[in-house]
Amino acid sequence: PRVAVVFGGRSSEHAISCVTAGSVLAAIDREQYDVVPVGIARDGRWVLESGDTERLRIGAGDGADRLPSVDGERASVMLAPDATRTDLVVTEPSAPPRTLGEVDVVFPLLHGPWGEDGTIQGMLEMAGVRYVGAGVLASAVAMDKAYMKVVLTAAGLPVMPSVVVTAREWSADPQECRDRSAELGYPLFVKPARGGSSIGISKVHDPAGLDAAIEEALVHDPKVLVEVCATGAREVECGVLQALDGTAETSVPAEIRITGDHEFYDFDAKYLPEEATELDVPALLPDAVEDRLRELSARAFEAVGCEGLARVDFFVFPDGSLVVNEINTMPGFTPLSMFPRMWAASGLEYPALVDRLIRLALA
Ligand code: DAL
Ligand code: MG
Repeated sequence: PRVAVVFGGRSSEHAISCVTAGSVLAAIDREQYDVVPVGIARDGRWVLESGDTERLRIGAGDGADRLPSVDGERASVMLAPDATRTDLVVTEPSAPPRTLGEVDVVFPLLHGPWGEDGTIQGMLEMAGVRYVGAGVLASAVAMDKAYMKVVLTAAGLPVMPSVVVTAREWSADPQECRDRSAELGYPLFVKPARGGSSIGISKVHDPAGLDAAIEEALVHDPKVLVEVCATGAREVECGVLQALDGTAETSVPAEIRITGDHEFYDFDAKYLPEEATELDVPALLPDAVEDRLRELSARAFEAVGCEGLARVDFFVFPDGSLVVNEINTMPGFTPLSMFPRMWAASGLEYPALVDRLIRLALA
């Protein structure tokens, strides 16, 4: 089968998607699959990529320089659907368009808005192309932290209390927004509703820090979530994979322990290899807590209506009680990412995991 691996994209998680794609491209079995790497540049242009996995990793430069990206200069590529088939067509300046033929399945390795949020899933549905992972609604619900809480709460799953502050409310009546936030009690987390990789997130200890945190989150999304901080809780994550019969299987959970001077699991702690974040894979949890966490992960997957895969992130309190922090429908697959490591610890190695996801989409 022919697999189009789509990565990059317009969101602030562009670089992470590239790193994810580098790992996945290196792991796909080329004897079984014909792979077409398609990058989406930051400006939204679709381009044919070389699939050079060496380029798609976190490099040795400084700051943004060390993060890989898709450039828009390569040959552009598009899906060209007609009534009976959908081809990939490549156009280069001053050459006639050439068709790459049909793709059997798309692996949308995109994180964040315009990729993990149902938009590309909708486009692929329209074109009649199969794809890995959650569909339109589940992707959109899981991308929006406010709606995710609505759906999880309705399914009886525990979440941290929060309020939504929109750009319109903030400009009309900031004091009302401050008062509503303060009622939750400090410290608070302020998050773009539709973000990822902790970009735009701040931890606020007292009222003096609130305005700047809301302004920062509003840079990324006109909708902001102000959330109670799970003080004293451990951060534990769990992988979910759909079985061929549709049931949700869970991985062993894993714990993130933030060390050094990171206040929370922020972008650098997530991705920069020299940062001293410690991951316990599997997490050391009492059996009863692990069982419950895995059960809640499967329930969250079902509640949101996910397909294929998801990673469910939890807070585990000292008394063993659990709260769902969030669900990610296209979790990172970088070499440091939790999702593939949790599955490897559960007996499913990285190449087999990638193969299973593609097979499930083709089934
Ligand atoms: N949003 C990042 C990629 C994750 O959930 O792993
Ligand atoms: Mg997320």
